[in-house]
Amino acid sequence: MKVVHSKSNLRAARALLPANTGFVPTMGALHAGHMALVEAAHAASDAVIVSIFVNPTQFGNPEDLAKYPDTLEADLAILKAAGVDLVFCPTAAQMYPDGADTIVETPKLAGMLMGALRPGHFRGVATVVTKLFNLVQPARAWFGQKDYQQVLVIQQMVRDLELPVEIVAHPTVREPDGLAMSSRNLRLGADDRAASVVLSQALGAAQTMASQGATPRQIVDAICAQISTEPRATLQSVDLRDATDLSELPDAPLTAPAVLLLAADFGPVLLIDNAVLTP
Ligand code: PAF
Repeated sequence: MKVVHSKSNLRAARALLPANTGFVPTMGALHAGHMALVEAAHAASDAVIVSIFVNPTQFGNPEDLAKYPDTLEADLAILKAAGVDLVFCPTAAQMYPDGADTIVETPKLAGMLMGALRPGHFRGVATVVTKLFNLVQPARAWFGQKDYQQVLVIQQMVRDLELPVEIVAHPTVREPDGLAMSSRNLRLGADDRAASVVLSQALGAAQTMASQGATPRQIVDAICAQISTEPRATLQSVDLRDATDLSELPDAPLTAPAVLLLAADFGPVLLIDNAVLTP
């Protein structure tokens, strides 16, 4: 496995790999969710490139950026064992040299839900992912569906900018008790970790209600009540939206897939989860 830190070394190493190269962009702190993306990329590609870059422009709060775990040596060992061909670990100065000014923005999607809570976040994601696609030139790139809105932002920008890459959304990988895998889970204390299962349980209950013909209002109210029974959870948001563009739904039984998006704090850790509900 080759590890490169500069854009010029990346371009040189990329040129030696086949056209059908798959790409998994990450911010490191790798867990089984990332490795499922790498495995899926392997199965569909002739070579796999992974990037590890904690992108400063998607963090609104410098403290969150500073707190982001740095586990580079362990990450590289896991990627090597998984048979990855090339890892790109640039510095912030490589990705954003002095004078860099261009941004990529999907204002409609980026201005709602998590984007409204974290202004500028999806602009940072769209900009860095565009740059990474231009550098890596993958045939396909894999993203986890746990970050549902992020996947839609990336699909939108790929469509709008005619980027020659296929986006593959991979189902959320879960712990045996249902908690969605995330690098944030490591920061949960034991009690909060135990309490966090309420999120995946709520998603299951919501699917049952959707199948029984409940309306969006009824589903959202019931899920808020269910999560509020867990004293360690501080609910931030519960939204049920159209699964394709996150638009608001009429208050009538579902006739098409809808996505239920949850965000709740457990102690100092904000967890998000989602599920696509079918009528
Ligand atoms: O999902 C992530 O880890 C990041 O948002 C991404 C896509 C690597 C961009 O920095």
